[in-house]
Amino acid sequence: MSLYLVLDGVDGCGKSSQASLLTAWAIDRGHEVVHLREPGSTPLGEALRRLLLDRDGAAMSPLTEALLFTAARAEMVRELVAPALAKGKVVIAERCFLSTLVYQGIAPADESARVPLPLLRELGRRAHGITMPDRIVVLDLDVDVARARRAHQNPDRIEARERGYHQRVREGFLGLAREEAHCTVVDASGSHEDVQRRLRAVVEPLLPRPR
Ligand SMILES: Nc1ncnc2c1ncn2[C@@H]1O[C@H](COP(=O)(O)OP(=O)(O)OP(=O)(O)O)[C@@H](O)[C@H]1O
Ligand SMILES: [Mg+2]
Repeated sequence: MSLYLVLDGVDGCGKSSQASLLTAWAIDRGHEVVHLREPGSTPLGEALRRLLLDRDGAAMSPLTEALLFTAARAEMVRELVAPALAKGKVVIAERCFLSTLVYQGIAPADESARVPLPLLRELGRRAHGITMPDRIVVLDLDVDVARARRAHQNPDRIEARERGYHQRVREGFLGLAREEAHCTVVDASGSHEDVQRRLRAVVEPLLPRPR
């Protein structure tokens, strides 16, 4: 028994903070936990992350973005996720194919270059193979609250876009969460502790028996 849990959602909704808190909590309960982020976590994935998110990086088409995110994903799933699950570990990952459906398919910055959702779904299936997330939690947050939370950080290439863009991204996540299997929306407003409490209520019943 293992668990592949994903936290997804708009920039600044709390994926990294909440994944770290969940990781510590699950370790405390006797689980072996692997905390991963997309794009990244493997050497190739981290190199692709720099290319994709660097503000000074060259602008690229949504199709190019989708292919690079997918390459990083395929690498992470094969190198890290599948082996961890095979050992009965809990994998907590930040983002998954759902982000690619939203950012490159539903709300690309260049709307004329939207990538068709069926193609993105196929890329997602290819990257994950049989190793699909057991549960995807979309952390839902008002875009102005998300922006305020990130105010002290330097925005990366995608975060720096205008408010309407972030609103389309939020709505994209909510729409997909209704359609996709294994998706749950969790309210990401309030304190770290508030959000963590809501998340644990979703995750606790999914945890395998500790080893
Ligand atoms: N519940 C919260 N209350 C107040 N601030 C928060 C809360 N959750 C996260 N933050 C702060 O908001 C910022 C963004 O949070 P975090 O990095 O966890 O989000 P993220 O979803 O991983 O963002 P990104 O998409 O940029 O990776 C951080 O500075 C974090 O400390
Ligand atoms: Mg993060």
